[in-house]
Amino acid sequence: MKSKVVPLRWEGSRWEGHLQMLDQRRLPHSEEWLELGDVEDVARAIEDMVIRGAPAIGIAAAYGFAIGMRNYSHDPMIGVESQAANLVERLMNTRPTAVNLRWALDRCRRLTKGFSGDLRELVEVLFDEAETIFAEDRENNRRLANKGAELFGCHCRVLTHCNTGGLATGGFGTALGVVRALAHQGKLEKLWIDETRPYLQGARLNTWECLEDGIDATLITDNMAAHFMAQGKVDAVVVGTDRVAANGDVANKIGTYGLAVLCKYHDIPFYVASPVSTIDLETPSGEEIPIEERSAGEVLRAGECLIAPEGFDAAHPAFDVTPAHLVTAIITENGVVEAPYGEGLAEVVEG
Ligand code: MRU
Repeated sequence: MKSKVVPLRWEGSRWEGHLQMLDQRRLPHSEEWLELGDVEDVARAIEDMVIRGAPAIGIAAAYGFAIGMRNYSHDPMIGVESQAANLVERLMNTRPTAVNLRWALDRCRRLTKGFSGDLRELVEVLFDEAETIFAEDRENNRRLANKGAELFGCHCRVLTHCNTGGLATGGFGTALGVVRALAHQGKLEKLWIDETRPYLQGARLNTWECLEDGIDATLITDNMAAHFMAQGKVDAVVVGTDRVAANGDVANKIGTYGLAVLCKYHDIPFYVASPVSTIDLETPSGEEIPIEERSAGEVLRAGECLIAPEGFDAAHPAFDVTPAHLVTAIITENGVVEAPYGEGLAEVVEG
């Protein structure tokens, strides 16, 4: 089971080098790698959607933290813990919904607590941590994908929403990872890709990943899902998530909740693929999950093309919350959790 797709890579030595990020805004038409050499570059790349997808954002933030501490070590004007607090604040204020950002930055910041040794050693430790978070995510995705694939029979026809593949993670993917595993095992008959209005992650990114890795798929607009379900052409929906609350409510790309409601009506299983790093036991339910509001311009346009009068009012919540009772199961690298979610989620987080 291989995938060539990764969202970022390190180039050069830790002390002179920089983070390279595949500019996802340019896909699928061109593959451009940006070079990022300070924390501000990384924070802007997350804000501007150069990189997106909950686990990938967490990995980028960990590298941003290490780069920020490296650059500071050349001219340390304030204490290490104050610098760490500044880096966390900048990186946390990029996108609010994906909890992986906080999860990764907590791991990095913990390493700076009470630090009083050689700053160069700390920088090495922080780069080690960023690499570990990156590698762990890839490995966990593969475990998750194998566990998820066990839930499916032969000849399955799966629908997915938003990009959850190698681009959105350390590689391989969560929901798209399950699809990759199914394809590898010869169990996938059909993949339906929702275009994912308004940012078009499905149309632009899933299509590109499927072409890269040779997965046969069909693109549909979001409003076609009900039609194909009614025709009996969808056996299951698998999506990723930006945050799973302690009670099993799931925040994911806008449109996910509608799919879950459709699944309930058509009696189709609705699966959520979530690495443990996306489970937030500190947030009791979906009501407390912050939902990012993005610009109206992204709704008024389809890609570059203006499709409504310039300046017309438009709403753009980037995520919605699917209540736990609509979720058939949450697939993690540590096991598959079914309702009631509270206890099961705590167990998989515990490992
Ligand atoms: O706005 P995005 O593109 O960052 O949203 C991404 C999603 O909603 C994904 O489905 C989610 O992060 C899971 S990625 C493995």
